[in-house]
Amino acid sequence: MRRIIVTFAAAMVLFSSCIKRSCVQQNMVSHDIKVAEQQVGYQLQVVEKSGKILFPRTVFDNEIQYAPIDDWTSGFFPGALWYMYELTGNKKWENAAEKFTLRLDSVKYITWHHDVGFIIHSSYGIGYDITKNPAYKAVIIQAAKSLATRFRPVPGVIQSWDENRGWQAKRGWMCPVIIDNMMNLELLFQASDLSGDSTYRKMAISHANVTMANHFRKDFSCYHVVDYDKIKGGVRSKGTAQGFSDESSWARGQAWALYGFTICYRETKDPKYLDLVDKIYHFIFTNKTMPADLVPYWDFNAPNIPNEPRDASSAAIMASALYELVALGRPQYKETADKIMQSLSGPAYLAIVGTNGNFLLMHSVGSIPHDSEVDVPLIYADYYFLEALARKIELEKSEKK
Ligand code: GLY
Repeated sequence: MRRIIVTFAAAMVLFSSCIKRSCVQQNMVSHDIKVAEQQVGYQLQVVEKSGKILFPRTVFDNEIQYAPIDDWTSGFFPGALWYMYELTGNKKWENAAEKFTLRLDSVKYITWHHDVGFIIHSSYGIGYDITKNPAYKAVIIQAAKSLATRFRPVPGVIQSWDENRGWQAKRGWMCPVIIDNMMNLELLFQASDLSGDSTYRKMAISHANVTMANHFRKDFSCYHVVDYDKIKGGVRSKGTAQGFSDESSWARGQAWALYGFTICYRETKDPKYLDLVDKIYHFIFTNKTMPADLVPYWDFNAPNIPNEPRDASSAAIMASALYELVALGRPQYKETADKIMQSLSGPAYLAIVGTNGNFLLMHSVGSIPHDSEVDVPLIYADYYFLEALARKIELEKSEKK
């Protein structure tokens, strides 16, 4: 009898703690949406007041910095506006998202870097997913066509950066591929679905397979940059551009890998991608340098941990990828994703309304080796945070059904 009572009492404690936990999570979600409505609203007002269509990127010297339309981050502001529409259903966000998205139309012809994928997917691609606006299809397909010009058939990859342009020209690369490039594949999968032309999908799969073979170490951490011989094929070198060292594990690179291969699994259902994602997850979340709040330092091997900047953008990307994985049959990852969101939604990372240049999250890192954007807000941190929030809500809705 005593055992029954004890068991019943234990069940009640568990039940009430579960109720409390889900209550905390629900309060967190509605609080985040409220904050985002105000903060993104202010961000929009500032831009509208300028009379121009500008793309907030970060803050420098207390001034909001805007990205040119060919910058890899330009799509994230319209993307954040699309997610605001999804999260609130308020048409005001849809109208704004459309306006900023349309300004990026000419990006579809960019062929001199791989970022056309990032830019068009986060604006037109997400806009299409949410509204099914048929006018966006042609832009997505043209952008995929432009990205496809960077496919190098001998090594079987999409070249990220031109070997002879900007600071990259000093590195002696021939066909540099960065792990970030995994994020461009979503545009290719979408373009094949919309056009019925499987060329883009085949390129995406080739790129993913070659990246899987060459970017990862034995512990399933990944390099940032792998350089290929585009004439003879094969790897010329492995190293970094934004990490602490060639052999270190740059946090956002690990986040891009987790997210990019999750999308590959979603689009192909090939179990080898899911298997890789499980291993990447293991590297990230059992890493001895991962802090208790699950917001990583900017590099897992940064030399002065714990006195190194955190990178909230990596945490937001990881949370969003994990919710997608939960939807794809990895329910065990939800607790980790929720824990990240709990951290990002707390006062250590979520800015007080009216501060932080009206960006949502504080404490991200652009590139320490370039001495650029260290411990600042970044628009892509906000974008993936809002995406994670939308994915979490969707998941929990379908769990209730
Ligand atoms: N590709 C840009 C970044 O992750 O910084």
